[in-house]
Amino acid sequence: MAGNSMNHVSTTEARQAAPATRASRIVAVASGKGGVGKTWLSCTLSHAIARAGKRVLLFDGDIGLANVDVQLGLVPQDDLGAVLRGQLSLDKAVAPFVDGGFHIIAGMSGSVNLGALPKARLASLFAELRQLSTAYDVTVLDIGAGLDGPVRDLAMMADSCLVVTTGEPTALTDAYAFIKYNAKDCPPSAFRVVVNMAESQAEGERTYNTLFKACQGFLKLSPPLAGIVRRDRRVADAIRHQMPLMTRFPTSDAALDIEKMASRLLSQP
Ligand SMILES: Nc1ncnc2c1ncn2[C@@H]1O[C@H](COP(=O)(O)OP(=O)(O)OP(=O)(O)O)[C@@H](O)[C@H]1O
Ligand SMILES: [Mg+2]
Repeated sequence: MAGNSMNHVSTTEARQAAPATRASRIVAVASGKGGVGKTWLSCTLSHAIARAGKRVLLFDGDIGLANVDVQLGLVPQDDLGAVLRGQLSLDKAVAPFVDGGFHIIAGMSGSVNLGALPKARLASLFAELRQLSTAYDVTVLDIGAGLDGPVRDLAMMADSCLVVTTGEPTALTDAYAFIKYNAKDCPPSAFRVVVNMAESQAEGERTYNTLFKACQGFLKLSPPLAGIVRRDRRVADAIRHQMPLMTRFPTSDAALDIEKMASRLLSQP
């Protein structure tokens, strides 16, 4: 696992740094391929879980290309950059997103490279994050595209991972690669699949079945479906207006799909 590299934190270190309480959990949103909707999904899922009355922390873990704050129209006073420079403790970088009813740790766009951080610094950051997460029911990690380095480290520190794909063959291949690459270090139940931008429920199910069969056939894994989110032009509209979809279009197809996914996630142990 990632612990083999000098700059990476081992699964055990990340998980044992400060065990989350039974009630709180950390969910990573990952994909392999870029542009499949992880950031939008992280924001909207956080909003939906908050609307269900839960305490939510959204952590922008896409270091270097952070855009949770951009999608939500926030101008954070502090961000992860200040934390990584040692100017701030992680808890001081938490900002309330009042309209959404949840909290955010904004990332930092620019030349920060989480992968280049000394191993000990990364371990202490994860320990702080895990400690912080105990104050919330759910902590959502929006992680970057790819398989390696900080993406992997962040995915490994989560309790479970939502693997986002679309129906495109490249997205499916990368989602499969992500699961395959990380499976050996995770419990079999760690991965759940989200099909985003589905043309219809039926098309989403076909996409899920393709990935499921590959995982079953080659990896002996049966990742359950977390949800299907339909393609909805109002998503882009909401992002353009830097507003949460559930505020701007609460009854849109994609908002209803995320709401369903949130309540399913909350009903699962
Ligand atoms: N359900 C959907 N329907 C329509 N468009 C969508 C949907 N989900 C996401 N999008 C579009 O996909 C674009 C990319 O989304 P987003 O930035 O969240 O992807 P990402 O996976 O985080 O990308 P990156 O890998 O670069 O971080 C958004 O600008 C949005 O317009
Ligand atoms: Mg993103």
